[in-house]
Amino acid sequence: MQSGARSKRRLERRAPVPYAAPMDARVRFEPSGRSLRVPEGTSLLDAAREAGLPMASACGADGICGRCGVEVLDGASALSLETEAERAVKRRNRVPEAERLACRAQVAGDVSITATYW
Ligand code: FES
Repeated sequence: MQSGARSKRRLERRAPVPYAAPMDARVRFEPSGRSLRVPEGTSLLDAAREAGLPMASACGADGICGRCGVEVLDGASALSLETEAERAVKRRNRVPEAERLACRAQVAGDVSITATYW
């Protein structure tokens, strides 16, 4: 009797842990209207490249050059928060305050963006 209860406890301990798949987010690129779904946490730079769009980048996405500035048309609150380091790079490289650095901004929800050279 007791060994049966012990076996049951062992089985309960081995129960599979539910897998929490990362949420997907839709990134839309204007003016083309191209869009794709990416895992939450993907940078806008990686999303644009995956969509086949050119992205300026002279620093290898290290957040230094300020070339990857994009305008967020919709869903700004669905991006990672802008850090002081990102703001400093934008100031130093004369990136408009309203833009985000695509290599620093990570998606956490649906967003729509554009760049002057798309
Ligand atoms: S690629 Fe250089 S700052 Fe984003």
